[in-house]
Amino acid sequence: PGQRYEAESAPAVCDGTIDSNHAGYSGSGFCNGANAVGAAAQFTVTPAEAGTATVSVRFANGSDTRPANVIVNGTTVATVSFEPTGSWSAWSTKSVPVSLNDGSNTIRITPTTAVGLPNIDSLDVVAAAA
Ligand code: GCU
Ligand code: CA
Repeated sequence: PGQRYEAESAPAVCDGTIDSNHAGYSGSGFCNGANAVGAAAQFTVTPAEAGTATVSVRFANGSDTRPANVIVNGTTVATVSFEPTGSWSAWSTKSVPVSLNDGSNTIRITPTTAVGLPNIDSLDVVAAAA
């Protein structure tokens, strides 16, 4: 089943505002990042044990493609193209394989262009089968 981490719940950090004006988010809102390079959504995830996992980023994008780097514990592991989802209330996911440490891990999603991030709802972390 995996574990869900909400963008609006500490220790997550949103370089913008927590909004709730576009339906379909989980929890109580989503991260509306500032429209700027580096205006990130950051999550702290704590897997049951170290190992590989699939991280799924839930997002909505009513605009143009918004590329972002995925940085795990300080290392960029992927660049994700967050394509348009059709509207700000249409939510989709993008998945990235990652390697996680035992204990807490920082996963930072940071936009590489001045349009910033899509709206980010949550992160689902599913450990790979042993
Ligand atoms: C609109 C939308 C926001 C979104 C923003 C953007 O203002 O309502 O939710 O974050 O566009 O372009 O980033
Ligand atoms: Ca925004």
